[in-house]
Amino acid sequence: MCGIVAYIGPRDAAPILLEGLQRLEYRGYDSAGVAVAAKGGLKVRKSKGRVGELAALVPARFTGKAGIGHTRWATHGEPSDANSHPHLDGAERIAVVHNGIIENADELRAKLIADGCVFTSETDTEVLAHLIAGLATEGVELEDAVRAALKRVVGTYGIAVLDAEQPDRIVVARNGSPIVLGIGEKEMFAASDVSALVRYTRQVVHLDDGELATVRADGFNTFTQEDARATAKQPSTVDWEESSYDTGGHAHFLLKEIHEQPTSVERTLSGRVDERFSTAHLGGLNMDAREARAFTRVKILGCGSAYYSGELGAQLIEELARIPAHAEPASEFRYRNPVIEADTLYIAVSQSGETYDTLAAVQEIKRKGGRVLGVVNTVGSAIARECDGGMYLHAGPEISVASTKAFTSTSIAFALIALHLGRVRDLSPADGRRICAGLKAIPDQIREILAQEKEIAELAGKYADHPGMMFVGRVRGWPVAREGAQKLKEVSYVHAEAYPASELKHGPLALIGPDLPTVAVVPDDELLEKNLTTLGEIRARRGPVLMVGHTRPDPKLAEDAILVPRNEPELDPILLGIPLQLFAYYAAVALERDVDKPRNLAKSVTVE
Ligand code: F6R
Repeated sequence: MCGIVAYIGPRDAAPILLEGLQRLEYRGYDSAGVAVAAKGGLKVRKSKGRVGELAALVPARFTGKAGIGHTRWATHGEPSDANSHPHLDGAERIAVVHNGIIENADELRAKLIADGCVFTSETDTEVLAHLIAGLATEGVELEDAVRAALKRVVGTYGIAVLDAEQPDRIVVARNGSPIVLGIGEKEMFAASDVSALVRYTRQVVHLDDGELATVRADGFNTFTQEDARATAKQPSTVDWEESSYDTGGHAHFLLKEIHEQPTSVERTLSGRVDERFSTAHLGGLNMDAREARAFTRVKILGCGSAYYSGELGAQLIEELARIPAHAEPASEFRYRNPVIEADTLYIAVSQSGETYDTLAAVQEIKRKGGRVLGVVNTVGSAIARECDGGMYLHAGPEISVASTKAFTSTSIAFALIALHLGRVRDLSPADGRRICAGLKAIPDQIREILAQEKEIAELAGKYADHPGMMFVGRVRGWPVAREGAQKLKEVSYVHAEAYPASELKHGPLALIGPDLPTVAVVPDDELLEKNLTTLGEIRARRGPVLMVGHTRPDPKLAEDAILVPRNEPELDPILLGIPLQLFAYYAAVALERDVDKPRNLAKSVTVE
């Protein structure tokens, strides 16, 4: 959510900043800006709109060897030229780009105005520019001025600060919003996300909350914000390919990522399925068999699609390991003073590893002495580092705002965790073998589903111009229906409501009629008959039905159907979700939506 990029070195900063902002645009795309330190002072260009529009405003002679850039998702103040970052003090000496929210901005702004500062935007960020400039003009070194300013601030931030008078450095700091440094050859980079860096370097350093770094062309130093104590950082190597950050010939990242799933799932499974002992190898859980047997409950936390994948995971854990398991939105959990139980295993799910609500939930659990595992895609991210152990998805970078391959890989990760917990408890070797074989079959079965792309696209075109759609599923089908509805509404803006099929007659059946089609997730499991009865109830009200399942239904019950290959009943939900991703994608294309950057959304929600 919002992207930051910074460069210092022998090259002109602006082209590197603009390129980095293009890569970060998925994190926020309502306005963008850059500032470079040049001989006569700061040069700044910023505007409402996309990075492409900003690039057109940056002249060829926008030279400067140190610079910062930002792409914004508005929190304080509407998207406008004035509210775009970077923000400057009145003397235009200090430029600041910021991700996060300064909670006491109004109070600080009032004090600064009383001291004579003139504000030019409605943003919370501008207070930082004035606070830092106030100290820097008294002769304080930039890093000390930033530290002192941050001590007055309550809230979350990832920031980069440029000083026209000290152009040999950029100062960055983090509290709740990611900052990663990139180490080059006599040049340094910083960004909110490695995607902006991989073109230039693979050597990175992740800042921790409460840390600040002074970045110069020839290196960096890190300190605590609290008392300027030097901290020791070990660079790590990013293994994501640069090609992961382009669409690879697909029309959109969303489509590319849907098609990547056979290989991203293979990576999630790689080295983890143990056919000899019919179990899963999950060394990263840092948990021996005795500990794994001791838990009496599993609680899964995540937001949005990560939460829905947690619902799917909870079912898998209950089915395979017979441990009571439940998923809850991390955004709710963290606010309700949750009871943390010593014999509950907590699992946090996050693609980005930076979602603030999920991170706050993890911190709350740990504060109360609970044990949390992370199921995370982004290596070295805040949630991954905060957890006591866990699993990386290895799904590769997910750029499209709407999550697909991370959702599927998370579901695979839960199947592995469920298998592992099941086999140290009561899952039989025969059932373990069955699940191992089922998992290994999934990549090819996804390929089979993707081969139906054309038919799914036609169905999406047929249904797309309805004002709304209902998604239903029962037990195993229910999380699939929720995620299917989420995908459709996110990318096509078609209203989509998900309901347990069993609940339809307790209220929402009143909505059903010829104008409201239903997408019904109907696996061929022990609940098939019940589900077909529900379809009959919908058809009796003349509601159109598109069924996603294993067997072609009687056309009286569903006029359209998408069939997926059968796996083991416990794993079927993973496959049933795939056609619904294509369905949402092609509905959005039919409605000419901005598929990779849906309105009002951004990836990686690092604000509360
Ligand atoms: C939906 C979507 C969001 C994210 C949610 C959590 O397609 O992308 O609902 O799933 O914001 O994000 P992560 O997984 O990064 O914590």
